[in-house]
Amino acid sequence: MNTQLARELGLEFPIFAFTHCRDVAAAVSKAGGMGVYGVAGNSAADIRAELEWIEKEVDGKPYGVDVLLPTRFVGSNHEGGFSGDQLDERIPDDHRRFVESLLARYEVPPLQEDIPIREGTGVGLESQRELIEVLFEYDIKLIASALGPPPPWMIEKGKDRGVMVAALAGTVEHAQRSAAAGADLIIAQGYEAGGHTGQVSTMVLVPEVVDAVAPLPVLAAGGIGTGRQVTASLALGAQGVWIGSLWLTTEEAETAPVVKEKFLAAGSSDTLRSRSLTGKPARQLRSAWTEAWEDPSNPDPLPMPLQQRLVREAQTRITRTAHKSPGAAELSNYFVGQIVGTMNHVKSVRAVMEELATGYADTMERLDEWAAGE
Ligand SMILES: Cc1cc2nc3c(=O)[nH]c(=O)nc-3n(C[C@H](O)[C@H](O)[C@H](O)COP(=O)(O)O)c2cc1C
Repeated sequence: MNTQLARELGLEFPIFAFTHCRDVAAAVSKAGGMGVYGVAGNSAADIRAELEWIEKEVDGKPYGVDVLLPTRFVGSNHEGGFSGDQLDERIPDDHRRFVESLLARYEVPPLQEDIPIREGTGVGLESQRELIEVLFEYDIKLIASALGPPPPWMIEKGKDRGVMVAALAGTVEHAQRSAAAGADLIIAQGYEAGGHTGQVSTMVLVPEVVDAVAPLPVLAAGGIGTGRQVTASLALGAQGVWIGSLWLTTEEAETAPVVKEKFLAAGSSDTLRSRSLTGKPARQLRSAWTEAWEDPSNPDPLPMPLQQRLVREAQTRITRTAHKSPGAAELSNYFVGQIVGTMNHVKSVRAVMEELATGYADTMERLDEWAAGE
């Protein structure tokens, strides 16, 4: 499964694991792939603690980080973006009442303790810049940006520090914009993917992007969960795979237990793209929560970041009480891709990596046999 990109980055396998869980990131890097820790929603202090932990674990093996850098959001035309209070003023009372009534209808208990609702960083480039400076203080080998092209200062910093700068793209145009901005690597992420995703399928998008940005290397993302899909990705011209959903049912994952059980039982038709968590279309598991937001008689989700601010307390309540409240369990969901249909057993990250590698080898062998007419 060796590719030029894997050799350049010192990887045994060109398997890149996107994750918000430090344990998964470290386990993938230790197993010969590259763990990429998604920092979205974390403060600089949290990030320092997590990256220090990862570095101790991986002991020099390569790992990366990922940041959300949306180009368009409420306040993006306003210099410096809006403050938290200015954003909150823009949330209509009707929406607040709807969220409250939804929690009441499903009898979601209030939070027992006074759990702080995470403020996180702003979504604007400037508020993220400080955080990105922190990331570059660590021994990262790759930094990826999602929802918008990497800004010039990030590209420059990457070049200075020998850190590969990658960008996620859901269309050829997005890929070309990031290539023109100076990105070193494009992640072509198809419709099937968990999280924010576009409308072009991986099968169509990957070869289009490979041709459009050549000679830049491309990773395939969206719907990859077996060695057969890894082989197909390389056949489409990708130099590796970028996988997000598959790790959510591993032993190491911090996925909430109720959601993990739902993922294990779900089929590939049980996800949808919904704006109900972040304000931008993001693939997630269907649940009473997404059904309520899809109902045309209810308010439409607000744009980013208003929707995130509107629902964050409700989401914390649902997640924290789902183990004891049937209503909260019905509402609970999380980002996941269509590959959830094949995520049916809890395994260690190492076992998943081994299955991907042996699945790839078996597929190559079968293709050789077919080509030889055996
Ligand atoms: C739970 C979850 C959270 C995600 N959050 C982010 C994120 O913060 N930044 C990002 O670039 N991509 C994010 N993604 C998308 C992944 O980077 C990746 O492209 C996607 O999961 C690939 O498709 P797959 O889910 O079919 O493996 C997320 C995906 C999932 C499943």
